[in-house]
Amino acid sequence: MDGNILCNIIATQQVHEAFGGVVPELASRAHMQNIVPVVAESFEKANINIEEIDAFAFTQAPGLIGSLLVGAQFAKSMAIATNKPVIAVHHMQAHVLANLITPNPPQFPFLCLTVSGGHTQIVLCKAPLDMEILGQTIDDAAGEAFDKTAKILGLPYPGGPLVDKYAALGNPTAFKFAEPQIPELNFSFSGFKTSILYFVQKQVAANPNFIQENLADLCASAQYTIIQILLKKLKKAVKLTNVNTICLAGGVSANTGLRNALIDYGKRHKWQIHIPDFEYCTDNAGMIAITGYYKYLAGDFSSLSVSADARSNW
Ligand code: KG4
Ligand code: ZN
Repeated sequence: MDGNILCNIIATQQVHEAFGGVVPELASRAHMQNIVPVVAESFEKANINIEEIDAFAFTQAPGLIGSLLVGAQFAKSMAIATNKPVIAVHHMQAHVLANLITPNPPQFPFLCLTVSGGHTQIVLCKAPLDMEILGQTIDDAAGEAFDKTAKILGLPYPGGPLVDKYAALGNPTAFKFAEPQIPELNFSFSGFKTSILYFVQKQVAANPNFIQENLADLCASAQYTIIQILLKKLKKAVKLTNVNTICLAGGVSANTGLRNALIDYGKRHKWQIHIPDFEYCTDNAGMIAITGYYKYLAGDFSSLSVSADARSNW
């Protein structure tokens, strides 16, 4: 065991698209259908058999309870069958440690901005298993802000990647949307969401073609606002901690505007920027494996009575 990822199989759930968001019951059913073929495929791709596994790591929290239970029960069953230990992994810690899946990992300590469909956090990471949440969202996540923007503009779910695509063709300062004034390092996106909703509703009432005529500018301006909200807090975190190695995590780190803004700002202010390969930014097995690896080295195993938890108890 050396911390190398042998394979990282992802089963994408298309089933939610028609509903405009994730349907928990459908997600857990899809997990049940996918887990055996995905695990079988991973053994094949990694070219190993079950006896060669040293421990079974699984996501324990947070998330949709039905889906978490499928993974937890499956990992525990494999552990019992092979008489090997289980390792419970926290999803958000794993997003941060995805940054270590590379031959050139960032130096400790680093700050990680985790931006996904469910979370927005700034974490100070001093060692693989020594992390501190410095700030997080008090309402919506950054990914939700992208997805809700897309919904208001009539784009399909998940809309983040589409907002990104149209934003590249628009003017980021064409429209101005509300930026929250939240103390310390916490985030809020609800005011932004309301401001874009009311603005678009008002414009469409006067001109029914407003969205079609301004789609690129609307996407560019919304994306610009979200990026400003994120960057302002990162700058504040760097100032407070004196740590200027910055990592990204979560699905929103795929956003071209965010990546460019961060790389550009980093160059000008001598920040070391580290962004994992895209397959390790969105939810993935590799990040659970790398966290399991460090927990294994630390002897941090779980009892078989450990159960999945929907809420974050980090
Ligand atoms: O980390 P992730 O795959 O799943 C969790 O939520 O845990 O993140 C998904 C989120 C969605 O909100 C999606 O719209 C957003 O990441 N996303 C993007 C882009 N690609 C994915 N948001 C903006 N620009 C993108 N290119
Ligand atoms: Zn995630």
